[in-house]
Amino acid sequence: MRIMVTGACGFIGANFLYFLFGNNGVLDNAPELVVNFDKLTYAGNLDNVKALSDKFADKKQYVFVHGDIASKEQVEQTLKDYQIDTVINFAAESHVDRSIDDPTPFIQTNVLGTQVLLSACLKFGIKRFVQVSTDEVYGSLGKDGLFTETTPLDPSSPYSASKASADLLVLAFGRTYGLDVRITRCSNNYGPYQFPEKLIPLIFRKALAGEKLPVYGDGLNVRDWIYVEDHCLGVLLTLVKGKAGGVYNFGGSAERSNIEVVKLILKELNQPESLITYVKDRPGHDRRYAMDWALAHKELGYTPRWTFEKGIKATLDWYKKNTAWLESVESGAYLEFMSKWYGER
Ligand code: NAD
Ligand code: DAU
Repeated sequence: MRIMVTGACGFIGANFLYFLFGNNGVLDNAPELVVNFDKLTYAGNLDNVKALSDKFADKKQYVFVHGDIASKEQVEQTLKDYQIDTVINFAAESHVDRSIDDPTPFIQTNVLGTQVLLSACLKFGIKRFVQVSTDEVYGSLGKDGLFTETTPLDPSSPYSASKASADLLVLAFGRTYGLDVRITRCSNNYGPYQFPEKLIPLIFRKALAGEKLPVYGDGLNVRDWIYVEDHCLGVLLTLVKGKAGGVYNFGGSAERSNIEVVKLILKELNQPESLITYVKDRPGHDRRYAMDWALAHKELGYTPRWTFEKGIKATLDWYKKNTAWLESVESGAYLEFMSKWYGER
């Protein structure tokens, strides 16, 4: 396999590369070539994959290309130069709050970028395309029930609307042109290298510094947390064992309210609950997500390997050892957004 993985300098993509080159229990051998194609936005960080490039670049198994999935020229050149046969698309603008602040880059990358990739895949005879999508395309659940792959798409935010649009384009390229496409839809990931705009690393960073912890609304919104490695397992199984045109849900079966998660981090850091500050709610805030991953279990043999207790411990241990990483990713653009967004709450 000669794979182009887009967005692999970000949180999940970087973890996916380590999983791909590690002892994952799915592949007997690492792929012949992996090209990490990333635009290096505020969320992309070459240091996230440094250990991997140190180990595999010399063996000509791993290459980094600085590129934008919305650039036809850059995408086509890369597919051609490296004789790629497989594409996995992690690249996206991924933060809901930023999409509320400004939807434009979300349409540009998540919608247009996906179409540019799909068209290039057709042109260069790519054998398999995996789109990494999200449970947010289904909208919000009430108290009961789970999202299945047949739950109607009902996105709430500009981010989730852009991901749902991309999903529809991916499926259309399968039906119209016969491209072998597959979609993974996953719940909330946590783990090493997650950018500190997302709940868990944000609360960790602020709690460590003794700062106020912004909890949206009543703090009772529920997310189904999955350790990032289990998401990587789902994506790899979809690539290897999934059906063309298939859509697969992945989750961790670990529903927790936001306030539970925040209190757990405070306990781990020995910090007081008085730091918790309830702030103005996120507009269009989805109340609850929870995934039914029975189809992935049946067709792909997927079962999460990590419990929430084990995963959150590993995650918080990683952040404790890597406070320098947290500081290093806080660029000017990040600080600007944080002060604007939280300044208004
Ligand atoms: P992230 O924001 O941490 O990383 C995104 C990466 O994509 C960065 O390296 C960035 O530089 C790159 N990128 C952005 N625009 C690009 C472009 N135009 N061309 C090339 N590269 C570009 O995101 P993440 O949390 O790792 O999410 C990865 C994917 O998984 C996304 O598609 C997201 O929608 C999906 N997803 C995320 C979660 C989650 O909980 N984080 C859950 C389900 C699905
Ligand atoms: O469900 C999958 C999705 O999970 C992915 O598709 C997205 O890319 C990813 O960002 C994530 O989206 P969420 O909006 O669920 O994640 P976030 O970490 O931003 O927020 C998690 C919950 O915590 C949500 O209910 C909002 C709340 N929250 C978040 C922040 C940043 C707060 O209460 N305070 C905060 O400061």
